[in-house]
Amino acid sequence: MLFQKVRFSLVAACLALGSGFVTAQEQVAVGVSMPEFSNMRWVNDGLSIMRELNKVNLASDLQYASAGADMQIAQIEGMIKKGVKVLVIAAVDGKKLTEVLKKAGDKKIKVISYDRLIRDSANVDYYATFDNFDVGVKQGADIVKRLDLAAGKGPFRIELFAGSQDDNNAFFFYDGAMSVLKPYIDKKQLIIESGQEGMNNVSTKGWNGAIAKARLSVLLPKYYSKHRLDAVLSPNDGIAGELINGFVKAGYGQSGNPMPVITGQDADIPATKAVLRGQQSSTIFKDTRELARVTAQMADALIQGKAPTVNDSKTYNNGVKVIPSFLLKPVLVDASNIKQVLVNSGFYRAEQIQ
Ligand code: BGC
Repeated sequence: MLFQKVRFSLVAACLALGSGFVTAQEQVAVGVSMPEFSNMRWVNDGLSIMRELNKVNLASDLQYASAGADMQIAQIEGMIKKGVKVLVIAAVDGKKLTEVLKKAGDKKIKVISYDRLIRDSANVDYYATFDNFDVGVKQGADIVKRLDLAAGKGPFRIELFAGSQDDNNAFFFYDGAMSVLKPYIDKKQLIIESGQEGMNNVSTKGWNGAIAKARLSVLLPKYYSKHRLDAVLSPNDGIAGELINGFVKAGYGQSGNPMPVITGQDADIPATKAVLRGQQSSTIFKDTRELARVTAQMADALIQGKAPTVNDSKTYNNGVKVIPSFLLKPVLVDASNIKQVLVNSGFYRAEQIQ
């Protein structure tokens, strides 16, 4: 609740960070609606979007929905009433915005779907995201590489975890990973002792790491008393962090019983440290500053009546139409390059990840 309406606190935070953000007094042109702030990435995304909009002289209103779909709808309604020209939305529930976006469409407000695709609405104009299928491919490929599966090694045991079913991205991540892992499951080089496969069985409601950890704490004693679990497909860092805690509690991470291969996504600070400590195998770095820049350029073009630049016009059908998209490239990072990639690009200062 404290952060329900964070515009001014974030402005203060920006100033404290020395980003040079200036409170815009003029008409708010862009409403920015972020889903939650428990995964640090969304806090950074919000700040980066405001900073980039400020660079193109667009005043913005940033609000966080505390992972509540109804709260997000109410916040978007407020932005529509304020007379914004563009909405930038990272949906809590990609299927619940149809009605509110109809109201936006009626007022000729342009809608940019941010990172997560908004489904079942004709009132989505553009989509700015990463190549989400490729995120999953990279996670799967990391497991293949670490277990040396291409050389025929195995059998190894694996369990699959996926993101939230109300997030379209979760399906892309899972499908991308499975496109790489499935052949090894079929050849029995990878064995899922629980037999749990498919989004209906392995997704994690609300991307809530505690839920994933609870599932792991059932799986380990039930299926892994005879064999150790060698690998876990984890869709993001929030979930990976909780799984790591679960594994440590179950006695993994000691000599004779090393941590399994654990993937991730977001390169958040705790995960980056876990990769450097050797507890998490890898993560996917998505430069959200770039995503914010692309989004601000889209908003600026739309306000000027120009067509934003896109690089994909076929992949993302939201159930009503294909949304013209700009896809950025995700990068896999592990202990061999994580410091170099994140610090050299200025994403983190060296002391933040020590
Ligand atoms: C984002 C991920 C994030 C997840 C949970 C996804 O839609 O693409 O970066 O980890 O949501 O917040």
